[in-house]
Amino acid sequence: MPLSRRDLIKTGVFAGAALSLPLNRVVSGQSAFANQMPTSKLPKPFTVPFSRAPIAVPVRTTGTADYYHIESKMISGEILPGFKTMLFSYGGSVPGPVIKATRGREVVVRHWNNLPAVHPTLGYEPWTSVHLHGGASLPQYDGYASDVTLPGQFKDYHYPNQQCARTLWYHDHGIHHTAENAYHGLAAQYHIHDPLEQSLGIPQGEFDVALMLSDAVFNKDGSLLFTLANQKGLWGDVMLVNGRPWPVMQVKRRKYRFRLCASALSRSFGLSLDSGDPLVVIATDGGLMPAPVSTNMLRMMSGERYEIIIDFSKYAVGQRIVLKNTSPSNNNRDFVNTNKMMAFDVIGDTFDTTNNEVPAVLNPADPVMNLRKADAVKTREFLFHRKGGQWVINDTTWKEVEDSNFEFVLASPRYGDTEIWEFKNSAGGWFHPAHAHLVDFRILSRNGLPPMPYEVGPKDTAYLGENETVRVLMKFEGRGKYMIHCHNIIHEDHDMMAQYEVIDPLRPGDDPMGTRATAYLPTTPPV
Ligand code: C2O
Ligand code: CU
Ligand code: CU
Repeated sequence: MPLSRRDLIKTGVFAGAALSLPLNRVVSGQSAFANQMPTSKLPKPFTVPFSRAPIAVPVRTTGTADYYHIESKMISGEILPGFKTMLFSYGGSVPGPVIKATRGREVVVRHWNNLPAVHPTLGYEPWTSVHLHGGASLPQYDGYASDVTLPGQFKDYHYPNQQCARTLWYHDHGIHHTAENAYHGLAAQYHIHDPLEQSLGIPQGEFDVALMLSDAVFNKDGSLLFTLANQKGLWGDVMLVNGRPWPVMQVKRRKYRFRLCASALSRSFGLSLDSGDPLVVIATDGGLMPAPVSTNMLRMMSGERYEIIIDFSKYAVGQRIVLKNTSPSNNNRDFVNTNKMMAFDVIGDTFDTTNNEVPAVLNPADPVMNLRKADAVKTREFLFHRKGGQWVINDTTWKEVEDSNFEFVLASPRYGDTEIWEFKNSAGGWFHPAHAHLVDFRILSRNGLPPMPYEVGPKDTAYLGENETVRVLMKFEGRGKYMIHCHNIIHEDHDMMAQYEVIDPLRPGDDPMGTRATAYLPTTPPV
């Protein structure tokens, strides 16, 4: 039974157990956690009802595009029952509204930054940059970290939605404050649907459920506890699904499709069902897999998405099934209830029986899954590690990018080329989710062995566990500069981020800093 931080203090386990200590404390001393909400005041798991993220409503639609206005604003929400928590929201909810897109139909989102000029407790200016993670956006609409929108400004983001059906997510990417902004709530899902995905008979509508998986620590007054004293990361003692602590969801006796998106700052997850039944994975970051894969344990970390099917028809009415978490080694922090995420209570209600299948074949024609290794014209290596007290990729950070006026790149693949990239974590100390913007890739190998069976699908973020090396194959079909970074958001902010540039001799790429935000007058507030 893992001990809470508080228990550690009480029982004095501290002194002799330096290795098992939450590192937050080691580095920051105890000051940042002096006001931490005690475990006894936290809700018991499975006492708070599950809630679905709202679906975004367009302000206008035309024959070819849907237009949205989303206001980033501060709200007072209730995460822990009986406590108010200051949050940053997309459009007034945490998580923000799910944008439902159709392949081939453009979406334009006007993102207003209506956050306060200064974060009320952390004291920084909450500039934003919105990244649609999983989208092949033009550089100027990709949420480039240094292309910030200040409080009192808005920016229009254009998304062509040319890619196949998938679970994307949009989240803050503002330079140096992504962690705070995302932790306070600036994260939400975005789904592209397409005819193939809609023809397979997999669950849709009510049975297609977005789940944002994260964690948090709270102060005694209910506010979020955030500290950067430890740049290695921040691990919460409260597990959140869609911003609810250990929620319980009522489910009917049929198949559900859950779109899992790991959005915790630093925690990774090892998900399983307490019934012992496997999770059936049907899609990875970039959409449907060639075929479904059953797994007893699904490991994922910030940035990664997996769509899974759980068939509740095999359970009795009244039965409770728990989605458990077994923290992947070694650098997670476990507390009293971090070993569970949420519960499902099976109810006897009648249900719609359509789209209640998992076909044996999903999307074998996915272009990324059909890339051939023999077509790769180059192999490049990206080493994620720590050097001189800094998180670096190939010994560089975003500082080099800024100092070069955004010219410095780690790689310049040519438009249309296929390449092999090797992401390497040579250290035993930490894990890093390696994420490349723009592209979908196929994992060729993990430590020289085949990828995990559930990773055999289009991906854009690869879990780099301790001492792991992952080789991926991708084809560059955009142009211009795109970020590549660690998706442990605290590493990303300090400063484990670089960029690459796709070069097309016939057509230069757009400038990621080329379309800046516009100021709005307080008299024309966001709609
Ligand atoms: Cu989800 Cu550049 O990140
Ligand atoms: Cu991304
Ligand atoms: Cu990292």
